[in-house]
Amino acid sequence: MSSSAPSSAPSSAPSSSLASSSLASSRSSVRWTKDPETKNPLTKDLWRKDAWRNLPRLQMPEYPDAAALRSVEHNLEQLPPLVFAGEARALERRLAQATEGKGFVLQGGDCAESFAQYSAESIRDLLKVMLEMAVVLTFSATCPVVKIGRVAGQFAKPRSAPTEIHSGQEIPSYRGDSINDLAPNAAARTPDPQRMIQAYHQSSGTLNLLRAFTQGGFADLHKVHQWTHNFVKESQAHIAYRDIAQRITEAIAFMEACGITSQAVAQVRETDFYTSHEALLLHYEEALTRKDSLNGEYYDCSAHLLWLGERTRSPAGAHAEFLRGVHNPLGVKCSADAKHDELLQLLDLLNPHNRAGRISLIVRMGAENISSALPPLLRRLTKEGRNILWICDPMHGNTVRAANGYKTRSFQTIMHEIETFFAVHRSEGTWPGGIHLEMTGDSVTECIGGARALKEANLADRYHTHCDPRLNAEQALEVGFLVADLLAKHQKPHAETAKQAAK
Ligand code: PEP
Ligand code: CO
Repeated sequence: MSSSAPSSAPSSAPSSSLASSSLASSRSSVRWTKDPETKNPLTKDLWRKDAWRNLPRLQMPEYPDAAALRSVEHNLEQLPPLVFAGEARALERRLAQATEGKGFVLQGGDCAESFAQYSAESIRDLLKVMLEMAVVLTFSATCPVVKIGRVAGQFAKPRSAPTEIHSGQEIPSYRGDSINDLAPNAAARTPDPQRMIQAYHQSSGTLNLLRAFTQGGFADLHKVHQWTHNFVKESQAHIAYRDIAQRITEAIAFMEACGITSQAVAQVRETDFYTSHEALLLHYEEALTRKDSLNGEYYDCSAHLLWLGERTRSPAGAHAEFLRGVHNPLGVKCSADAKHDELLQLLDLLNPHNRAGRISLIVRMGAENISSALPPLLRRLTKEGRNILWICDPMHGNTVRAANGYKTRSFQTIMHEIETFFAVHRSEGTWPGGIHLEMTGDSVTECIGGARALKEANLADRYHTHCDPRLNAEQALEVGFLVADLLAKHQKPHAETAKQAAK
């Protein structure tokens, strides 16, 4: 495993450092414990897990009771880590392989997990649909798939407005269940630090079940037929899935006849499943940050991968300061408006040694903007020699308000953004490394379109999200098939061109 020691910097380290004087000056108020004279803000010795507190913070709650907050933080600091640093390192290795085109990331889950909708069934159903999608992708595109849930910690939300009007009253916006309550009244919306404890325990329970399912037999490839959901059994995608499942079953029977059994081979019996969330609520993240006893580095042990949101990725802000010091793999959300110089500055800060697997850029540009905004960004970062895993989030640039008031997204627009993402990578000669979806294993009605042609009028039927609209299990599997097709074509451009020419 590569470390962040300067001696391990690869020869492809960034050619230009954009660490600006404004960045340095914005950090001048930080109380460093060691080496206060050193100018370089990227040196790891200068990082402290609480240094973010001295920098401008966006999208964070103001807790009315500082003593209550401090007591919760102290409590969280005593609780066991949710993940082990070695797992985060294993994920980074897999992401490094995907960065080189030897893997594809499937990242998915709720926009916002909720306390009220916590159930074993919904965890199982999310896992089922992600396992199905991974099977489809692996089988059709013969590409290893790295499965990462937006789960077991995705509780804090950035909002576009700090307040909203409800029944003529201005109340604080809902900011996720780890911060305040969805109920539309001022008392419920007041940030309560105790909610962080509940989020921790829910995450712990979720992770425990995910580990049990993925290591305890449920994810055994012999069960490939059993991962389907009852309510999608009649869908086209399910029929196509059944076909793949049958072929996998036959392949396993063949392998077993050759002596390759699930008892002998862990990859048949178990699977890796990683967790991720937006590192927004830094009080929570700091409290779960621990020094790894094996290598002495800090890891944010609330999840394997943490990401910086579109609204909090300023290199001069508290969130970037916090994340630069933890050694987990990181995601960075990136809209069509992202300034390239600022992104480079952020990359210098977060990944000064240009370690492959450390940074995934999760582009969420919108179907309308991606064809013009992605190519120049790709070219700039490629020219700079940055090791980036490119992931497409086709959800967050495509949210619309339906005529009946529901926030929704159209399946067609989502697919259009994914197709353009692949087309751009094809023409630039780069690797489309993954997709990031807001999805659930439940049969919700939050996004319109898909094989069942869900209409605006259906949105009211089962609209359960606390925040953004998610693909339901059937729609997510459909996306899985379409992406598998795009990925297979991406890997065989010559065969495809020849096929087209022969038509
Ligand atoms: C999200 O992923 O739910 C989110 C808020 O994303 P973004 O930061 O890209 O807007
Ligand atoms: Co969202």
